[in-house]
Amino acid sequence: MISPPLAEELKRRIAAAVTKREAAVDVMKELQRHYGWLTDEAVEEAARLLDLSPLQVEELATFYEMIYRQPVGKQVIHVCDSISCWAMGGETMMAHLAGLLGISPGETTADGRFTLLPCACLGNCGNGPAMMIDEKIYGKLTPSVLEGIVGIAKG
Ligand code: FES
Repeated sequence: MISPPLAEELKRRIAAAVTKREAAVDVMKELQRHYGWLTDEAVEEAARLLDLSPLQVEELATFYEMIYRQPVGKQVIHVCDSISCWAMGGETMMAHLAGLLGISPGETTADGRFTLLPCACLGNCGNGPAMMIDEKIYGKLTPSVLEGIVGIAKG
């Protein structure tokens, strides 16, 4: 259950949007911040706030890869797997990160700290390979740069 101030803030944003659907991503992101991921309860709340059906919210949620319908770690690492980054070694960076974290893409570390996910172009193609953590984009990734960012030295 969200707090009354958060509900009011979301209602204010929805009222300011041209359409409720336009506000949907913003609402889902805020609810995701609140719950850690977009839980079934969050989908129901978003539907109520947006005057959409839960199924419509569900459909919108599955369209956006930064909206998580399953539990994720405290930090989600999105590694770009689109063409420019792939050509610059993105696949190798994903494999290196997976090795550092001891998980496969799509998984969360046992301590719940990181979730590793592939993603589509982050708009940082000229600086590939690229990734995003907590809405911050990193580019020109190398194994040592990755180790520094994630804070885990390769042992
Ligand atoms: S292809 Fe990776 S940021 Fe665009």
